[in-house]
Amino acid sequence: MYRDSGGGLQILIVDDQEDIRISLSAFLRSWRYTVVQASNGEEAWEILQTSDISFVISDWSMPVLNGIDLCNRIRAASFDRYIYFILLTANTEKTDMIAGMEAGADDFLGKPFDHNELRVCIRAGERILLLEQRLKHQQKQLVETNAALIQTEKLATLGAIAGSVAHELNSPLGAILNASERIQSTLDNPLEHGFLSAFAGKVGFEEMKEDLELLISAALHCRSVVADLLSSARAPSENETCTLPEVVQGWLRLYRKQLELYGIEYDFSADEPRRLALSYPALSQVLTNVLMNARDALIESTDDKPRQISLHTEADQNHCIITVRDTGPGIAPQMEEQLFNAFATSKEQGKGTGLGLWVSRSLLQKAGGGIVLRNYDGGAEAVMIIPFADAISSPIL
Ligand SMILES: Nc1ncnc2c1ncn2[C@@H]1O[C@H](COP(=O)(O)OP(=O)(O)OP(=O)(O)O)[C@@H](O)[C@H]1O
Ligand SMILES: [Mg+2]
Repeated sequence: MYRDSGGGLQILIVDDQEDIRISLSAFLRSWRYTVVQASNGEEAWEILQTSDISFVISDWSMPVLNGIDLCNRIRAASFDRYIYFILLTANTEKTDMIAGMEAGADDFLGKPFDHNELRVCIRAGERILLLEQRLKHQQKQLVETNAALIQTEKLATLGAIAGSVAHELNSPLGAILNASERIQSTLDNPLEHGFLSAFAGKVGFEEMKEDLELLISAALHCRSVVADLLSSARAPSENETCTLPEVVQGWLRLYRKQLELYGIEYDFSADEPRRLALSYPALSQVLTNVLMNARDALIESTDDKPRQISLHTEADQNHCIITVRDTGPGIAPQMEEQLFNAFATSKEQGKGTGLGLWVSRSLLQKAGGGIVLRNYDGGAEAVMIIPFADAISSPIL
């Protein structure tokens, strides 16, 4: 194989006559094509296997493998690209042309060739190859778009199913929680409830109270999963606002005990008085997801660092920025790229659904805000940005 470089499209010249190859190459190089030469069809076939050449100008009659057989072989093979084939012929009789066309040649050039005619032939071939490339690109895009649509549709169906299941689970869960909390309060203060505790001080009493704590915390976990699913299925509500202090206080009322149970210290300074462009349930959902993630990270942590969660706020003219930090082990490297993907979780089966961050980001983005999760030198931090209700804002993340 002989190759000389003009820098442009690569063209393979196949001819057993050296003088023809030389004169063709000279023309092609002067038009800035890169030329590769072969002296028969078999040699050309080898070259096509190991290169990405997609343009062939081949003589008809050659020893070993002639032009028609080379063309036939190319068309029968499954290359990953289209190969444009010009057949050179000393004899342009109609019957020969038909044999060439049947073999799959794209064009014919009579020998001796006229260099203008050669140029026109090559230009036509280039146009076909360009069209072929565009088609391939569009086809690839179509396949990708189709895959994305299928994925979106799957998520939408899943969301609808999950939403209705969550809805059905909500009431019994509420009943379980209420009943458990009532029993807990009775066991804590039997006298207040009008009877002496028959069990107080008996073997197993404390274990029973601990089991009840577990029951409550399991029910709370289920409720947060249900709430995740409900808010992902729920259409965004407009014109609903809330303040951060009311949401944080509401959250603490529900979860303070749980944090204490796990020995987690918390330092929440949430005194931003301006109203946020997010409904109370939506912000409560986002904070629950982020704070529960912090709690889980601290519980799973095996080092002796104190277990702490902090929440503080900053504000610019239009946005409130809430940072939640924990002193846990930080984000696992394998999770970094997929934190916000639906169902991406590092937790054991049954402990995490991998929907918390996905739902939180979608709720915040719908409100024109955003969320990032990253490591800092003492653990992980979630930074949430939420527009103030009185600020006109556009999506930022
Ligand atoms: N504070 C954090 N520290 C370390 N890793 C975190 C933290 N927050 C989130 N992650 C990682 O991000 C993953 C995804 O979190 P996400 O809240 O979306 O799902 P999950 O907590 O696994 O399940 P659930 O749907 O029950 O919330 C977690 O499994 C965890 O690996
Ligand atoms: Mg979570």
